[in-house]
Amino acid sequence: MASVTPAAPTGAGRRLAPGPRGKFLLGSLLDLRRDLVGFLGQVTTEYGDIARFTVAGFTVHLVNHPDHLRHVLQVNSRNYDKQSHEYRPLKLAFGEGLFTSDGDFWKKQRRLMQPAFHRQRILKLGEFIVRDVVDRIDTWQRYADRGEPLDVAAEMVNLSMNVATKSLFSTGLRSDDEVTTIARSLDTVINYCLYRTMVPFAPPPKVPTRRNKEFTAALGELDGIIYRILHERREQGTETHDLLSMLLEARDEETGEGIPDKQMRDEIATLLLGGYETTSNQLSWAWYELSRNPEVEERLHEELDRVLGDRLPTVADVSELAYTNRVLEETLRLYPVPWLERRAAAEDTIGGYHVKAGSLIYISPYLTHRHPDFWPDPDRFDPDRFLPEQSVDRPRFAYFPFGGGPRLCIGNRLAQLEAQLTLATIAQRYRLRMVSDHPVEAKMQVTTSPRYGLRMTIEPRRPSA
Ligand code: HEM
Repeated sequence: MASVTPAAPTGAGRRLAPGPRGKFLLGSLLDLRRDLVGFLGQVTTEYGDIARFTVAGFTVHLVNHPDHLRHVLQVNSRNYDKQSHEYRPLKLAFGEGLFTSDGDFWKKQRRLMQPAFHRQRILKLGEFIVRDVVDRIDTWQRYADRGEPLDVAAEMVNLSMNVATKSLFSTGLRSDDEVTTIARSLDTVINYCLYRTMVPFAPPPKVPTRRNKEFTAALGELDGIIYRILHERREQGTETHDLLSMLLEARDEETGEGIPDKQMRDEIATLLLGGYETTSNQLSWAWYELSRNPEVEERLHEELDRVLGDRLPTVADVSELAYTNRVLEETLRLYPVPWLERRAAAEDTIGGYHVKAGSLIYISPYLTHRHPDFWPDPDRFDPDRFLPEQSVDRPRFAYFPFGGGPRLCIGNRLAQLEAQLTLATIAQRYRLRMVSDHPVEAKMQVTTSPRYGLRMTIEPRRPSA
C-alpha cells in the first residue's frame, strides 16, 4: 500500500477515518478489483474498525465493528440507501424489486410482501422441501453403490432451485426443463449485472453486442416463464400454499390494491435470485465442513438418530434439532455473503469519524464474522459458539448473515427451514466425503460459492428406505 491518510481533524474539527491513500485518480480501485475481500481484510488489519479510502473518485468507508454496523443498518438506517453505482446495474434485471428499491416505494412493497413470509405460512412449505430432497437423493443411490463421486455443490444448486421454484409456483412449472431454464437465465443475467458493475461504461443493453444479446435473450426466457405462470394463476385463482398465491392475495392497507404485474415480475425474479444461490452455498459449505470435522459430523448424526430415528424430518422437528441448527449457523458465519454496500444520503458521524454525504459504506459480513474481539480462533469450525451461554454477550451485529434492521433478509425463515430440513434429510441417510485431491476455494462475488464445485463420495449410513 503506497501511502497513508492518518486519522486527522478536518478544518471543521471533524476527524476523518484513517486509511490507504491509493493511486492518483483511481484510488484503491485496482486493489479492490484484484481481490475485494482480501483488500478489505488488509485495510481492516492495518487501520482498524473503520477505515476510509477512495475508489475512482468516490469516498468509501469500510465499517467492521458491530456497534458501527448497528448504527448503519439499524439505528440510522434511513440515512443509508442503496443508491450506489454498484447496485444500479442490478435494476436492469430486477427492476424495483425488494432488493434493489429504496425509500417509500421499498417500504410499501416490504409491507405488502411481509405477510407472505409469516412463520406459519413458511412452515406450510416444509412438506414441499422434504419431498423434493428425497426425490433428488434417491438418484444418488447409484453413485453410492458404485463409489462414484458426485459434484455435491451442483446438486445443492439443483435442489435449492427446485425448492425456490416450487415454493414460489408449486405446480405452475410445466417441466423440470423450465427449472433448468430459470437457473441458466438467472446465471446469465446476474453475471451480466456483475460485468456492468465492473465496467460502468460498457455499451448500453440496447446495443447489439454479443454480451448484450445474451443478456436480453436470458431475460426474455425468464420473463416468459414468470409472466405465463402469473397470468395462468390470475385466471385460474387456484388455492395453493405457495408464495405466489400469497403475493397475489397481498393488498395495500390504504388503497386495497394488489401488486401490479410488472412489479410482481420484479419481485418474483428477485425472490428466485435471493432464494437459491445463498441457500445452496450454505448447504455446500456445510457438507464441506462436516467432511473435514468428523467429531462435528458424529454429533450431528447422534442428534438426527435420537430425534428422528428412521422417519423423515418434519417442520415440527426443527426446534428439537438444536445441534443441526448450530452447524448451519456456524457455516453461515464462515461463508456469508462477502460484502454489502450502502450510500450515506446525508453527512453523519460513525465511531467518532466524519462521514460526508454521498460516501459509500462497505460492509463485509465475511470480515466481521471473523472479528477476533468476538470470535476467538475465528477460522475454526465450531458450532458450539452458538450455544446460548456462549452467545449471550455477543453484540447483535457481530453475526448478521441475513443483514439487519429494516432490510433484514425477508426470506431468512424460509432459508433456515430449507437448510435444516435438507441437511437433516440427507445426513440421516448419507455421509459425504471430499475426494482428497479436489481443490477447494471460496469464490466471493455476490455470494460465497465453492469455485471448483465439491467432488464428494456418497456413503450410505443406513439401508435406504
Ligand atoms: C442462506 C440463505 C440466505 C442468505 C445468507 C441471505 C442473505 C441476505 C442478506 C445479507 C440480505 C440483506 C442485503 C442488504 O442489506 O443489502 C438479504 C436480503 C434479501 N433476501 Fe436473502 N438471504 C438468504 C435467503 C433468501 C431467500 C430464501 C429469499 C427469498 C425467498 C431471500 C430474499 C431476499 C430479499 C428479497 C432481500 C431484500 C430484502 C429487503 O431489502 O427488503 N433471501 N438476504
